[in-house]
Amino acid sequence: PQARVDILGDRVAAVLPTGESVEVLLTGATVLSWKGAASGGVAEERLWLSGAAVLDGSKAVRGGIPVVFPVFGKSPADLATSRLPQHGLARTSRWEFLGRSTSESDASSKATSNGVQLDFGLTWSAADPALKALWPFDFALLYRVTLDPGSLTTSIVVTNNEAEKAFDFQVLLHTYFRVGDITQVHVDGLGGAPYSDKLEAFKTKTQIESKVEFTSGTDRIYQPEGGAAQVLTIVEAGHPKYSISRDNLPDAVVWNPWAKTKDIDDFEPKDGFKNMLCVEPGSVSGWQTLEPGDAFEGAQSISLL
Ligand code: BG6
Repeated sequence: PQARVDILGDRVAAVLPTGESVEVLLTGATVLSWKGAASGGVAEERLWLSGAAVLDGSKAVRGGIPVVFPVFGKSPADLATSRLPQHGLARTSRWEFLGRSTSESDASSKATSNGVQLDFGLTWSAADPALKALWPFDFALLYRVTLDPGSLTTSIVVTNNEAEKAFDFQVLLHTYFRVGDITQVHVDGLGGAPYSDKLEAFKTKTQIESKVEFTSGTDRIYQPEGGAAQVLTIVEAGHPKYSISRDNLPDAVVWNPWAKTKDIDDFEPKDGFKNMLCVEPGSVSGWQTLEPGDAFEGAQSISLL
């Protein structure tokens, strides 16, 4: 049996014969839901999505996997990205569904005959008109969402279609993981890593403990020592739950807003921070320069343990 793909208005949904599924909103090509099963287990929701998430394109989605491009956070004032809103223009633009692809020769593709790949595209000309005027570079994004039994891979290719201009960009996959109880959760794989602490004016620190644990608001840009080769693991109550492999995305933002949810209108329920953790693979501590005609590819692959 093959996976089934349905286009339901502004969403694309795929279901595997195993019952595992993924749902992608055309706004931002935001993965809204991933129901995945660990080996021998049942399919359960793996992503956190706010009960007050805005899904009509007027705002970025609070939850799931928003795609951050071409700037992470607010841009420094002296850069070409400076007029863009926080996290750029991709997450609020309406993407095009390019179809289900089956190419197994593609290096970014892990889909076996048991899986399914959904491709989404966004070009500068099709981006949100109000935002694209703020960053006039002829880019193309190809975002591939691959659902396999027990894993979800999302990969992005950024192409510079300008004839003569290079551009600088950052990119990040803002994954909101669903967890049972954040106080029982830690992240492995970041021991020894330098990080920039956004809660202390981007102060540079070093992760001394091997485990990153959560007891209050956390907002850090890690540069793991092994770069993209370092596998990150989310562990809950002593059991490894998610393993995150990265390709060409050397940084990892770790974010939990904790009590600050009271100031985030679309974050519901307010104590929902207990059930989520963002671990966000990206290339955000510096800038990627893309020459005309060149392309950059990065990916995250999440396996259920
Ligand atoms: C994280 C940032 O990636 O995204 C945080 O590190 C930020 O600083 C968070 O608060 C959410 O951002 P936004 O724009 O979706 O509210």
